[in-house]
Amino acid sequence: MHSILITGGAGFIGSHLTRLFVTRYPNYRVVNLDKLTYAGNLENLKDIEGMPNYQFVKGDVTDLEQVRGLFAEHRFTGVLHCAAESHVDRSITDPLSFVTTNVLGTAAVLQAAKEAWTGAMDDKVFYHISTDEVYGSLGKEGFFTEKTAYDPRSPYSASKASSDHMVRAFYHTYGLPVKISNCSNNYGPYHFPEKLIPLCIHNIINSKPLPVYGKGENVRDWLYVEDHVRAIDLIFHQGKVGETYNIGGHNEWTNIDLVKELCRQMDEKLGRDKGTSEQLITFVKDRAGHDLRYAIDATKLKNELGWVPSLQFEEGISKTIDWYLANKEWLDDVTSGNYLRYYDQQYHKR
Ligand code: NAD
Ligand code: TYD
Repeated sequence: MHSILITGGAGFIGSHLTRLFVTRYPNYRVVNLDKLTYAGNLENLKDIEGMPNYQFVKGDVTDLEQVRGLFAEHRFTGVLHCAAESHVDRSITDPLSFVTTNVLGTAAVLQAAKEAWTGAMDDKVFYHISTDEVYGSLGKEGFFTEKTAYDPRSPYSASKASSDHMVRAFYHTYGLPVKISNCSNNYGPYHFPEKLIPLCIHNIINSKPLPVYGKGENVRDWLYVEDHVRAIDLIFHQGKVGETYNIGGHNEWTNIDLVKELCRQMDEKLGRDKGTSEQLITFVKDRAGHDLRYAIDATKLKNELGWVPSLQFEEGISKTIDWYLANKEWLDDVTSGNYLRYYDQQYHKR
């Protein structure tokens, strides 16, 4: 019997992770602590909100008193720390909110875990969900391994790198049983339409311009979100304490090729003439400090725990587009801001 704290469970990856743990482990108690920022949406979890082993708590990971209180009340044996500010472009306009949530918030959750678990660390796991962006930017060749030196270049990646360091510091200094994974770019259902793939899907549906930064030559390594949370489940249960695991899809796409693939598939699905959506592509000013290429070497995870991605990209993208087309209401609610009212309607309090 585990009692698990998931932070940021109302976000994109957090909601898939929460769903997986609540449905796959009915004997675990799962508490989802989320601040419900613009990126947190309880509609992402509608299908599991009534499950007896699931509880939502609105709150902030930077609030040490609140996190301490939750540890005292629920006697957590595991933490899956997902809460973060996650969008690079927002980190460029507002870096300090990234420092607050990603660095101070992680430190607060670590501190609460340390206080609660000191003297009884053996059966506990503090799992920190991180990103490959901490490794910086690759040239045309090579891959990030777990041994690649950190070289973050955006306020987002620098704040995530800081949080990773803090997690390792709690392991080395206090013996906190930590595990870290660094994953490449995710895509799939419930992805907030400020990120490239859902933004383009939304704009293609509405025949709006598709903004491609610079020349569209930057490369990302895309992984279907359910493959990511499957890897987290595996590492949480079977990974070694104190270790880091890279997670990635071996699936590199330049942004421009990716957007063209989205256009191709969506023209077919929407019954539009071939080439229609490509006309929406608009090259815009590049992102400041735009990392050229990310690519993960996930050999360690494959060799040690047998994980490989389950989906080919064309199939994953097709599933993702189908989900957005079948859930236009979700997309409309998110883009109109209506989803922000859901908490009030559902929980009658704020
Ligand atoms: P997201 O922005 O979709 O969701 C973040 C969630 O955290 C939201 O529900 C938000 O309300 C919550 N949150 C933000 N600040 C909080 C605070 N102070 N207290 C409590 N909750 C707070 O992010 P995501 O894309 O699902 O990413 C989740 C995690 O995975 C992040 O740590 C991110 O760095 C990491 N990650 C993301 C990707 C990716 O491609 N999206 C890839 C690798 C790693
Ligand atoms: P994004 O989805 O923001 O993820 P990240 O920056 O964390 O990799 O962006 C993916 C890539 O797409 C990145 O190279 C920036 C680029 N991009 C665009 O070209 N246009 C856009 O409108 C956005 C949001 C991103």
